[in-house]
Amino acid sequence: MAKVNAGAALLSLCLLLACSAGGTKAAYVDVEGTVRTEVEKAIKSNPGIGAALVRLVFHDCWVNGCDGSVLLDKTPYGTNTEKKAINNIGLDGFNLIDTIKYKLGDGVSCADIVVFAARDAARYLSNGKIAYSVPSGRKDGINSSAAAADAVLPQSTFEFQQLVDNFDKKKFTPRELVILSGAHSIGVSHLSSFQDRLNKSTATPIDDNYKQALVADVEAQKKSQNTPDPIEKNNIRDMSSSFQTTAGYDPTGVNTAAKGALDNSYYHANLQNRVLFKSDWVMRTDTDAGNAMAEYMDNATKWNNDFAAAMVKLSKLPAESSTRYEIRKNCRVTNQNYYY
Ligand code: HEM
Repeated sequence: MAKVNAGAALLSLCLLLACSAGGTKAAYVDVEGTVRTEVEKAIKSNPGIGAALVRLVFHDCWVNGCDGSVLLDKTPYGTNTEKKAINNIGLDGFNLIDTIKYKLGDGVSCADIVVFAARDAARYLSNGKIAYSVPSGRKDGINSSAAAADAVLPQSTFEFQQLVDNFDKKKFTPRELVILSGAHSIGVSHLSSFQDRLNKSTATPIDDNYKQALVADVEAQKKSQNTPDPIEKNNIRDMSSSFQTTAGYDPTGVNTAAKGALDNSYYHANLQNRVLFKSDWVMRTDTDAGNAMAEYMDNATKWNNDFAAAMVKLSKLPAESSTRYEIRKNCRVTNQNYYY
């Protein structure tokens, strides 16, 4: 028995460290197991980190492909990196990526860690219902520009056609736009990202009761968070029951106890006109998108499966060529200051 335990101990050590066998050095690092363990641990102590990771992979892969460019504080070209883009307001998860990178070492790219961490967050937040495999082997880019990110990332004030065009540039269909927007069943938003919906002059239709409840809550949050730009929960499912009652929310078909779950409840909220962003609301204005939303509202399993497939496609967006790639030692900086 002692022998078996010693063998098991050696095996798990081999999984974490590089092992030597027969003179040939083979690195048996349990990359995906390590990411999964760290992601689950982080979400248990801070549930908001899961939503941050699901958003992070979108914002990394949409700009220059999946190349870890969103993680950089500094490149050979300067410090005005993607993190400083207006559209990256509230982006988070960087410390966790650093922790994972520290455990995995120089052999694993930051870009792969972002992809795996999002995958594991999606699985955890969906209670195992969204599960998919993605290949490894991405390399880290050395370019990261706030202006480039703002030029490429969709904005919450976009019209439907702008969203469709934005997704088309990455070869994603209008249906995949509907599917991936379901990620707004989790997480939070700053007031500045949906302020236009509350202003009389710029407002796109929003349910009156929801709007009134939101305006009152925003004022309360300004005080309790002590900021003029507080955050609100994206999904009305995650609001208190008194908020939901004031807002006239109909929770039929939604598991309101599953606060923070990644599921199809976004479509229930949107089809009731109780979502934050104009970019969510505008999908109601298109017949096909509206029909797709109704379909996903009624079929949770279909959405889980289609969301997983769209995340695989997102995670495979190739790093755009013509720049130099490496495996970063530190996800926040390029390995060398090539051009200084
Ligand atoms: C369709 C175009 C999209 C637009 C215009 C958009 C816009 C936004 C905005 C403005 C926020 C709030 C930022 C803030 O104020 O803090 C947000 C949050 C979020 N978005 Fe999107 N988004 C889009 C698509 C996506 C996609 C494709 C995903 C993932 C697959 C995603 C996942 C998330 C998540 C999880 C959050 C919450 C993040 C957190 O709580 O940390 N979004 N989005």
